[in-house]
Amino acid sequence: MTPAARQSAGIAIIDRILAGEPAEAALTRWARGARYAGSGDRDAVRDWVFRALRQRRSARAWSGAEAESGRALMLGMLRMDGMRPEGWTGKHHAPAPLTEAEASSLSAPPPVLSRGEAGDIPDWMLPLFDAALGAQADTVLKCLRERAPVFVRVHARRAQVAEVIAELATAGITAAPHPLARQALQLEGATRRLKQTAAFAEGRVELQDLASQAVTETMAAHLPAGGSVLDYCAGGGGKALALAAMGFAVSAHDADPRRMRGLLPRAERAGDRVALVETPRRNWPCVLADVPCSGSGSWRRAPEAKWRLTPGRLAALQATQDAILTRCADLVAPGGLLAFATCSLFREENAERIAAFHDHLPGWSEIAQHVWTPLDDGDGFFLSLLRRAST
Ligand SMILES: C[S@@+](CC[C@H](N)C(=O)[O-])C[C@H]1O[C@@H](n2cnc3c(N)ncnc32)[C@H](O)[C@@H]1O
Repeated sequence: MTPAARQSAGIAIIDRILAGEPAEAALTRWARGARYAGSGDRDAVRDWVFRALRQRRSARAWSGAEAESGRALMLGMLRMDGMRPEGWTGKHHAPAPLTEAEASSLSAPPPVLSRGEAGDIPDWMLPLFDAALGAQADTVLKCLRERAPVFVRVHARRAQVAEVIAELATAGITAAPHPLARQALQLEGATRRLKQTAAFAEGRVELQDLASQAVTETMAAHLPAGGSVLDYCAGGGGKALALAAMGFAVSAHDADPRRMRGLLPRAERAGDRVALVETPRRNWPCVLADVPCSGSGSWRRAPEAKWRLTPGRLAALQATQDAILTRCADLVAPGGLLAFATCSLFREENAERIAAFHDHLPGWSEIAQHVWTPLDDGDGFFLSLLRRAST
């Protein structure tokens, strides 16, 4: 595919997403109908689509278009990069030629972006970022407009970090340790080949964000080796698998068990055991509540979510977080640990939830609190470790 044909495909997919189709579904549908597209084409189209979702407001402003559309966002992204649309002839799958209005918008002086446009978020969220991050807010917003680095977790008991680095190098993947998590490797180069490597197929490495790994490593530092952990919101099981790899006896629960579909095959690939529990009993030495949240720390990887979030949805998430905390507190044994985690940057979903928890549930003490932001290289994450009184 020519660069213009790739842009044309990106425009059509972005239009479907703007009409409400989830990004992954729109990309898959396009790929099924585009047998002529090679893997390089599919990667390039995907990059355009995800960039448009990350940079939706700024791209629209750069396009100068009255209405938002895939075509406007593509023109805006090209202009932002100092490029003009090349080969937009309307032939050979290229986008239609520029209209007069588009051509004159592209020759107008560069736009002066508002703070929300420059940070690529809805304006109502600016105070939330300011309250959480203070002077770092704009730097974090800038970071959230870019692609996330790729990290893997090296299995804590089945592989040596140095061996995995050497093995991945033979596949053209450069892997480097990161000080935030012992088992984490940051990948560069042919990262899209990871799933074809023996290290991946044999479960010696798993894709997992850096801060997500820091969460489980921090938990492990406060737990007796090999103890039992209930992952109450296990979802796809990223943290359950990391804890199992460290030798903990992990049980996984989720309100929507379908979300745990991939967990057992992944555990098997890693040579670990995770038990699925529908109705957890009480008296766990440790319960992890990795609660549903806005995901504001992970918007580099899931940028659709930032445009879907509303103040009402954020308030509903806070109520769910409180309810899950209360439920999980009841499941922890006296003297046990409750780990509350979100991939949100907002105080409203983090420190404020812990304050509300202390207000209505005395007898707990916070033994550690950690905040990671994308400036630490991984997703934004929050972790509070709460100890239940022994009696
Ligand atoms: C942030 S995700 C979990 C991610 C996962 N722990 C990981 O590391 O890959 C939150 C999960 O909480 C689940 N959930 C939502 N409400 C819940 C509830 N009331 N009780 C238990 N799980 C819930 C969702 O289905 C979702 O899978």
